[in-house]
This record gives sequence, C-alpha cells and structure tokens, in this order.
Amino acid sequence: MNIIEVKNYDEMSLKAAEYIINRVKNNLNLNLGLATGGTPKGVYNKLIEDHQQNHTSYKQVKTFNLDEYIGLSKEDSNSYHHYMNENLFQHLNILNENTHIPSGLNDDNEAECRKYESLIIEAGGIDLQILGIGANGHIGFNEPGTSFHSKTHVVDLAQSTRKANARFFHSLDEVPTQAITMGIQTIYQSKEILLLASGKSKQDAMVKLLSGEITEEFPASILNNHPKALIIADEEALFRVKEISIF
Ligand code: F6R
Repeated sequence: MNIIEVKNYDEMSLKAAEYIINRVKNNLNLNLGLATGGTPKGVYNKLIEDHQQNHTSYKQVKTFNLDEYIGLSKEDSNSYHHYMNENLFQHLNILNENTHIPSGLNDDNEAECRKYESLIIEAGGIDLQILGIGANGHIGFNEPGTSFHSKTHVVDLAQSTRKANARFFHSLDEVPTQAITMGIQTIYQSKEILLLASGKSKQDAMVKLLSGEITEEFPASILNNHPKALIIADEEALFRVKEISIF
C-alpha cells in the first residue's frame, strides 16, 4: 500500500482526479468503481472541469458504484443514484446504460446482490476502485466484523454510520437502516484501489489503517495486502499518524 500526502482537500481532489483521468485516457474501456459521500465530491468536480476543458471522453467507460440504501428510489434526493447523477454522470458524456449502482428498491434484495456481482464479473472486473473510509474503518457499507470473503450483500448499517450520514437527511430517523454494498472480496478483487481521506474525522482511521494490523474488525485493513492500493490523504487526516511516527 502506497501513500501520497497532500496539503488539503483541494489538493487531494486534484491528485485523485489526475490519477483517474490518466487511467481513463490509457484505457478507453476502463471499468471504474465509484464511491459517494463527502470525500469524492471534489474529485468529481475536477473530473467535470477536465471533461469540459479537455474533452476527456467517458463514452466507453463503465462505472460500478459501491453501494445504495435499501428503500430509497433512484429519484429520492438522498439515494446514491441521485447523488451520482447530480455530482458526476449528467456532466460527462458517459452512457446511462454503462453506469451501474445496486437498486435499493426491488422485490428480492438477495437476487439484486447476485445480479450486481455477476455484472461486475461479466464486465471483466473493476480496473480502478475509488474508496472513502468510515471512522470505524468501513469501506463501501462493510461494517466492522464483515467477512473478508464477502461478496455483494445486504447490510444493517451501524448506528455510527447512520449518525455520520444523517447530515445529508432532515433527521437521523430518515436515514435508512439497511443498504446493499459490494462485499470486501468484491472490492479487493479490483485491479487497483485508490482510497481517499481528508480531515480530522479520519485521523483515527488512518492510524488503524497504517498500523499494518489486518483484522475484520477494521475492514479497510485488508488493503494492506492489496498489490496495487494507493492512499491519497491530506495533512490533517495524517496528523496523528505522523505524531506517533508510523508514517
Ligand atoms: C460511500 C461509501 C462509504 C463512504 C464512507 C466515507 O459510497 O461507500 O464507505 O466512503 O462512509 O464517507 P465520507 O466521504 O462522507 O466521509
């Protein structure tokens, strides 16, 4: 696992966007794994700016998002479908049929999970997966204790995750209690992984991630074993790591 330290959120966003653009230019048929949340918003803005200025094309790119809340329709303003359309897809020349996000509204969630897993495999696997990280080490919605062998599955969201995400809803009660997420194995099988972290709320997670201990109690720790994982983190996120000299 390699680390690039950057000054702040803006620099993290720029570096990550440059990294992604480079991959898109070198592989027109890139399968790109995407995340939602606060962390990648700046990256998506930079991808849009680049698309407008330099016309980087996403016409043949396929995307696979990590997760979606169960119970929210695609049109719901808190769904990850809506987030992706607003923050990225509608501003690029990506084809709608090439963007994939698990459906949070269907009759059979288990079948939806199997279908999603097959879609990724049929596409040839994910070339580059973008990740944020939860304070408890979650990646996607894989909470502590999730098996490292898990594939796309239904999860009960940890209360800490619901609280962290309540900022996007009117109240905590509105935050769904379940989601569909790529499993840890699904994520780990990506050929390349780019994890982004910015700000004080990620300091403890960075300490645990970079301590090198690999445990299902801290899902992101599996990335220590990945042959091609890169972290781009800002000074604030790495502050405690440097204080205790593990980086
Ligand atoms: C989002 C996702 C989550 C977030 C994580 C960090 O699709 O899967 O794992 O990456 O909760 O969220 P932010 O970026 O809001 O701190």
